Amino acid sequence: MLEAFVSQHTDLDIDFDFDTYLSYRRGRLEESLTRYFSQGEPALLWEAMAYSVLSAGKRLRAMLVFAAAEAVYKDCPLKASASGLDAIDAVMPLAAAIEMIHAMSLIHDDLPCLDNDDLRRGKPTNHKVYGEAMALLAGDGLLMLATESLIERTDRRVDRQNLLDVTRAMAHATGPSGMVGGQVKDMQFTGAEDSKFDIATVESIHAGKTGALIRFALWAPAKLLGASAEKCESLARLGEIIGLAFQITDDLLDVTGDATTLGKTPGKDEATQKATWVRAIGVDGARAKLKEMEAEGQNLIEQNSLDNATAPILRSLLSYSIHRDK
Ligand code: IPE
Ligand code: IPE
Ligand code: MG
Ligand code: MG
Ligand code: MG
Repeated sequence: MLEAFVSQHTDLDIDFDFDTYLSYRRGRLEESLTRYFSQGEPALLWEAMAYSVLSAGKRLRAMLVFAAAEAVYKDCPLKASASGLDAIDAVMPLAAAIEMIHAMSLIHDDLPCLDNDDLRRGKPTNHKVYGEAMALLAGDGLLMLATESLIERTDRRVDRQNLLDVTRAMAHATGPSGMVGGQVKDMQFTGAEDSKFDIATVESIHAGKTGALIRFALWAPAKLLGASAEKCESLARLGEIIGLAFQITDDLLDVTGDATTLGKTPGKDEATQKATWVRAIGVDGARAKLKEMEAEGQNLIEQNSLDNATAPILRSLLSYSIHRDK
């Protein structure tokens, strides 16, 4: 039923159920991702990469890729020119690439030289299993495999200029102006006294380390499929809201969550004096900010070109980013 919805873009099934949608989409992503890691040499490197990328993440970034593709596909030039190309198939290499970059960021984030964490996705962190040197290289390997496979595996019917623009933007979102830059700021403010940072500082850290890739996850499918500049921009703005809200929620869960549910060790931000939203304005302040952001995101979906039959998926993903317990 969901499949029919995606390919035909008729109205949403009245029984649309977000959990069913998520598990269906995750299944399709994981089926595809698994094929990337079925073989490779050096075998231990491929095993280390697969260990992290195929472990049980929420797959939020891939879900955002699919939702954005679904939100624009009906009206985009590709649907008219490439009959039979399913929106999800068209963006699957992009979703896989983003999940690889995200897995890389987690492997490196957990290293002793950064957050020094032992538990990730309910399992020992990559360096605990494979050692620091292999973890570093597994991250590097995933980073480049993401770019290579995005270019190589994207359907030939997708416009090459759009693919080039998306590949460039992926490098930008990941690199010094995006995720890597945010991780550096995070590191520079680790251990800082409360008086040394304010909300603007935390917002800038979050926008880089988490927001840039989430913004890209919503913008890129629209760009790849040839959607209008207006739609690309609306999705990018929604990505900024979800990106910040997602990291504020991560900061809150570090205080309120438990290891079994989270699959990672809580209490680390406080122990290492991270510059988080919770430290800047407290648990209640962070919750109030999330409420504001959720309303802002819902308004954005309602007030512009994103408000079509697929809007419930975007709405649900926005709420999920905030109300999750892991
Ligand atoms: C964790 O990301 C790192 C942050 C940016 C907060 P996720 O919470 O999406 O991690 P997984 O993919 O579900 O493990
Ligand atoms: C991580 O932020 C951001 C990236 C991995 C880029 P955190 O350090 O807060 O993420 P967790 O809490 O370890 O998942
Ligand atoms: Mg970190
Ligand atoms: Mg961390
Ligand atoms: Mg965290």
